[in-house]
Amino acid sequence: MAEEATQPDVDETSTVATDDFGASAIQDEIILEVDDLRTYFATRWGTVKAVDGVSFILRKGETLGIVGESGSGKSVTSLSLMRLVQSPPGHIVGGRVVLNGRDILQISEGEMTKVRGGEISMILQDPMSALNPVFDVQDQVGEAIRIHQKVKGKTLIDKIVYALRQVRIPAPEIRMKDYPHQLSGGMRQRVVGAIGISSNPSVLIADEPTTSLDVTIQAAYLRLLREIQAEAGLGIIFITHDFGIVAKMCDRVGVMYAGRMVETGDVRDIFNHPQHPYTQALIASVPKLEEKTERLFSIEGQPPALYNLPQGCAFAPRCPYVMDICREEFPPEFDQGGNQRAACWKLDGGKRLEEAVPEATGAGAGV
Ligand SMILES: Nc1ncnc2c1ncn2[C@@H]1O[C@H](COP(=O)(O)OP(=O)(O)O)[C@@H](O)[C@H]1O
Ligand code: SF4
Ligand SMILES: [Mg+2]
Repeated sequence: MAEEATQPDVDETSTVATDDFGASAIQDEIILEVDDLRTYFATRWGTVKAVDGVSFILRKGETLGIVGESGSGKSVTSLSLMRLVQSPPGHIVGGRVVLNGRDILQISEGEMTKVRGGEISMILQDPMSALNPVFDVQDQVGEAIRIHQKVKGKTLIDKIVYALRQVRIPAPEIRMKDYPHQLSGGMRQRVVGAIGISSNPSVLIADEPTTSLDVTIQAAYLRLLREIQAEAGLGIIFITHDFGIVAKMCDRVGVMYAGRMVETGDVRDIFNHPQHPYTQALIASVPKLEEKTERLFSIEGQPPALYNLPQGCAFAPRCPYVMDICREEFPPEFDQGGNQRAACWKLDGGKRLEEAVPEATGAGAGV
């Protein structure tokens, strides 16, 4: 994103005119490195290991999808990256989150306040709850800009208008006087997006940003995120339970199950030859275009409760390929070539990534 408040010439209709989601804008530079992240909740039932050994990297201009059923630890992962886990009962008990070269789990809360919504920013699931109904758009976008860029007056207004233009809000000088209830769902989502990108972040986390939108709005919004990314070289972590959206949006994907990443790799590889039985089931349950269904998952059984998890593979009770060893030992990661790796005993005999397996609990695959 450009620092200055110049206003690019934007054609407001162009974002919905094409079906092409755009070429990837990945660059080599690693902007975020998450290593063995563990976030636990102390509950009366026991310790909930919501995130238990998650590792991945994110490059400039790249979109990493994190996909998994409800309760698999996706949101707790993103809240951990923002250091916004409710505490108590939650605690980040281990790992590193290295953003632009420094571990943000080690900095003071005061410093983190500058990083949060600055270098790393998050778009929440529900645009209505992310916006305050009693303030107009100008106030809400302006607040985010004021905090991080310390500008006011005409410069602030220019930056607000610029941010709204970036998310293709037509006539931003007029619309910025609107209150959230005066905007359509799609426009509200764009305002939330404008707040997210207004601080020129390196990393944008989009946690299920499309769930409350209809399909046409979703497609336009996802395309918009890709366009902004191409312009700004932004790294995006895109969190969803919908593998169909991952296919369109993401460069790489990490599949989460029970607080761990069980398979990771380039989207193309994961779609063409998923190796982990859970990934295979997720992909098999993606609704086809012609089927109008809300049901995205048809995997037998329920995800496990994340306290007192049995030893071994957490997917074992639902897995059609389960073997004795699966119930005894957590599966290590096996290299599947390219960037693909999966943690499943079925792949034993392949190249084992010993170094990725911690001693006691076992970890998920690093992307
Ligand atoms: N405040 C909390 N207290 C206790 N458990 C929590 C809390 N927040 C999340 N969890 C637990 O963490 C697990 C992962 O939740 P979450 O990350 O929200 O899943 P997802 O986003 O994948 O649907 C769930 O089992 C949930 O019950
Ligand atoms: S380790 Fe065993 S139970 Fe787990 S996914 Fe692989 S085959 Fe299934
Ligand atoms: Mg969630």
